[in-house]
Amino acid sequence: MIVDASGRSGLLKKELGQLPYGVSVVTVGFGSTSNGLTVSWLSQVSFDPPMLMFAIDKLHFSTELVEDMPSFVVNLLSDDQAEMASHFARRSMSDEHKLDAYETKETAAGQIILSDALAYYACDVVAKHEAGSHWIVIGQVTEAAVLREGSPLTTAQGLRYKK
Ligand SMILES: Cc1cc2nc3c(=O)[nH]c(=O)nc-3n(C[C@H](O)[C@H](O)[C@H](O)COP(=O)(O)O)c2cc1C
Repeated sequence: MIVDASGRSGLLKKELGQLPYGVSVVTVGFGSTSNGLTVSWLSQVSFDPPMLMFAIDKLHFSTELVEDMPSFVVNLLSDDQAEMASHFARRSMSDEHKLDAYETKETAAGQIILSDALAYYACDVVAKHEAGSHWIVIGQVTEAAVLREGSPLTTAQGLRYKK
């Protein structure tokens, strides 16, 4: 049980909900064994070598894929792509392949990139750490590019990661 400074118990949803984040889609896997999910708990964690991390709920459909695959791609969304963020925030259903709804292309190594992303960062997984309900996945950036001009989508625009 978590107790805040005023002695209230709960998951500190209101307090932690104030933290600002960018919004990306993490794509993982190859061909038909692939998926994309919206992620906001994401950060750069090293300059040299360049590394990123994101946190993924242990219970998500995508988590098994993330555990099995050696790499992932962070696709940074722009402020006019809230609809895309909502699409990839849908829970995967057995009869739906979320990536079919958007145009994709591939990195040199064959990882999936969303063609309309602002920028992408393909990463090789170098570490995974358990953190409560989530796994922290750390990746070393192996290929990255800015695809177009634009401002990033942020949680300040109303999209939230909620339980
Ligand atoms: C703005 C926003 C940010 C999100 N950030 C995360 C995140 O950082 N980590 C996570 O595990 N899920 C996050 N989610 C939730 C997942 O996108 C969502 O649970 C999705 O259904 C998982 O996809 P899957 O069922 O294909 O695995 C976020 C959702 C939204 C709307």
